[in-house]
Amino acid sequence: MAALPLALRNVTVTAASGRGLLNIPDYTLPAGQSLAILGPSGAGKSTLLHVLSGLRRVSTGSVHWGATDLATLTETRLSAFRRRHIGQIFQDFLLFDEMSALENAAVARQFAPGPERAEILRRAVQSLTSLGLDPQETRRATTYSGGERQRIAVARALAQGPDVLLADEPTASLDRTSAERLTDDLLAAAQRTGLSLICVTHDPALATRLDRTLRLAHGAPEMSHAA
Ligand SMILES: Nc1ncnc2c1ncn2[C@@H]1O[C@H](COP(=O)(O)OP(=O)(O)OP(=O)(O)O)[C@@H](O)[C@H]1O
Ligand SMILES: [Mg+2]
Repeated sequence: MAALPLALRNVTVTAASGRGLLNIPDYTLPAGQSLAILGPSGAGKSTLLHVLSGLRRVSTGSVHWGATDLATLTETRLSAFRRRHIGQIFQDFLLFDEMSALENAAVARQFAPGPERAEILRRAVQSLTSLGLDPQETRRATTYSGGERQRIAVARALAQGPDVLLADEPTASLDRTSAERLTDDLLAAAQRTGLSLICVTHDPALATRLDRTLRLAHGAPEMSHAA
């Protein structure tokens, strides 16, 4: 694991209709820093997160994580890069309902080369435990509460041993206490492993605890990243 700096240059994303969805001339985030992406609904926050993970291709420009420009990678290399370096927490968690907490947290084993599988399982057990969940419980993911499901999704992202953790509104469906606990957990994980944490959020309590803020309006930065 090595911390990765982020550099966006002349990034645009244009929809098939020709409508511009994202326009970021220049943005950098030093390795290991945390960032809150803010802005109104439809501003392009999730689109930017997908660009950062490589799930969405840019129309122009470059997206550098360290020396790697996602825009130049083939699909195969992009998938490999994502699996090796980027953990994602989706707003609706995307857990496998029939699987246990541990099976969900360690699901990356199924796509990983043999030698990496034991390590993924070890990190899944460790992450679940540190998030207050019992890795030995065999009940299905559907039986967990919303906050617990969110923490299973966090454990799954951490089990990959990512250098970058991308989270789309990670506290949106939680009450204040659970949101604060999850924020503590995310920041502790970031500190422990040195990863870069990037959260799309409407939650000011989460945003103020991150190092930097990037506010989007109509797909473009509203102010300098040193907010
Ligand atoms: N493939 C697409 N084709 C056309 N428009 C798209 C496409 N994907 C996203 N959009 C539009 O781009 C805009 C930005 O979407 P995005 O999901 O990034 O917003 P957001 O900032 O995450 O909003 P929210 O806070 O509601 O989640 C929206 O108006 C959306 O409808
Ligand atoms: Mg969104």
